[in-house]
Amino acid sequence: MKIAIIGLGYVGAVTAACLADLGRAVIGVDQDATKADAIAGGRSPIAEPGLDELLAAGVAAGSIEVGSVATAVPAADVIMITVGTPSARTGALDLTAVLRVAEEIGAALPRDGRIRTVVVRSTVLPTTTEELVGPAIERASGMAAGSDFGLAMNPEFLREGSSIRDFYEASRTIIGAGDERSAQQVRAAYEGLAAPVEVVSIRTAEMVKYTDNAFHATKIAFANEIASFARAFGLDGRETMRLMVSDERLNISPAYLRPGYAFGGSCLPKDLRALTDRARKSDVDLPLLDAALASNAAHFERGVRLVEDAGHRDVALLGLSFKAGTDDLRESPAVALAERLLGRGYSLAIYDPDVSPATLRGANLTFIQQHLPHLVQLLTDDVEAAVAGADTVVIAKGSVAVDRLAALLRPEQTVVDLVGCDEVAVGPARYLGIGW
Ligand SMILES: NC(=O)c1ccc[n+]([C@@H]2O[C@H](COP(=O)([O-])OP(=O)(O)OC[C@H]3O[C@@H](n4cnc5c(N)ncnc54)[C@H](O)[C@@H]3O)[C@@H](O)[C@H]2O)c1
Repeated sequence: MKIAIIGLGYVGAVTAACLADLGRAVIGVDQDATKADAIAGGRSPIAEPGLDELLAAGVAAGSIEVGSVATAVPAADVIMITVGTPSARTGALDLTAVLRVAEEIGAALPRDGRIRTVVVRSTVLPTTTEELVGPAIERASGMAAGSDFGLAMNPEFLREGSSIRDFYEASRTIIGAGDERSAQQVRAAYEGLAAPVEVVSIRTAEMVKYTDNAFHATKIAFANEIASFARAFGLDGRETMRLMVSDERLNISPAYLRPGYAFGGSCLPKDLRALTDRARKSDVDLPLLDAALASNAAHFERGVRLVEDAGHRDVALLGLSFKAGTDDLRESPAVALAERLLGRGYSLAIYDPDVSPATLRGANLTFIQQHLPHLVQLLTDDVEAAVAGADTVVIAKGSVAVDRLAALLRPEQTVVDLVGCDEVAVGPARYLGIGW
């Protein structure tokens, strides 16, 4: 297999060296003659530990050569675009280099019956590959993506300074492919790597890269805000963060990273409010933590809009407490949703096995009688009747009879899913998910 790599900066040079090391024949291209010459001479164009040695070995073995787009494209099975995608002045992604290269590739694609796959490895926003790169190649070549050439997206996750280790010890290789043949060709390029391969849609592959980097940026901002708050009280934020990350069950884990409805309950909103309030009084700026509350409020509103979008007035709300397995109603987003809908004239039936009229007791009974007496009247133990009497069924909590829903629903009903649990099956009904 021969792989053309267009753009020999950090990503291109490292990818070229590592793929050659894996046994692929690589032909690199860069408009910058200094970089192209360096690679041709087996030297790294960038400072990166171990890269000089790998490139030198690849060139000595004859598995790395340098050419032009016009010579590399016809020779290759897989053509990777690894040029830069810098920020424009507005912050928008500058796709000039990617689209120029796409046109050059299109112009160089021969009609020889061999199907080559063009892979975007540069970081691009969702839809870019299918809506801009593919069409640019099609226009320049007169050929069709998917049949005459393949289209794929394969994000790069290397970190400068440890990129070679990151390549070999990648957590996963993500291949977004427009068709099975393209996926196979890109998969073959990485054959020999231990990392599991995830084949997804092209748009998902594009999105994963932004998901990762947004998360990394958020983590760093979080750690710095915590440290700033701690410092204002004479504490060492490095120590609190060390203790925070030592919890691999709730903190450094998939917990709290599943999209769903707004957070609520008796702790998260209260504690975040107390922390940000104290920070304001202590003159510590915590924009990220302030924004978490604003973000949560915005997400609550998305749920309200989704119920409105369903377009019916009779609603069954499945789930009232703030999460499965508890009857705690304090700051439950489902309670706030119920109140909002009632205020807007919706008629409501509420079913929640954790908060059934028969089992409510103690402090929670007093709480609901004092604060939510109007909701008590709407609670029912009969999920079948609640669903049968509704036009819109809102799933506000996992574990709320979702496994039985498909059998209860009719085609004219709409299910609004605020939870996104895997078991939701809505049979013939219309389905609206809050974040999917
Ligand atoms: N640097 C990283 O750590 C990293 C990690 C993951 C993803 N990425 C993404 O990968 C992409 C490349 O990043 P990079 O840091 O390697 O960029 P870079 O600026 O180091 O390299 C880009 C190379 O493309 C070349 N180039 C530009 N236009 C060209 C053209 N028309 N023909 C041939 N060559 C051309 C440039 O001369 C340059 O050598 C970006 O989208 C970036 O966001 C970067």
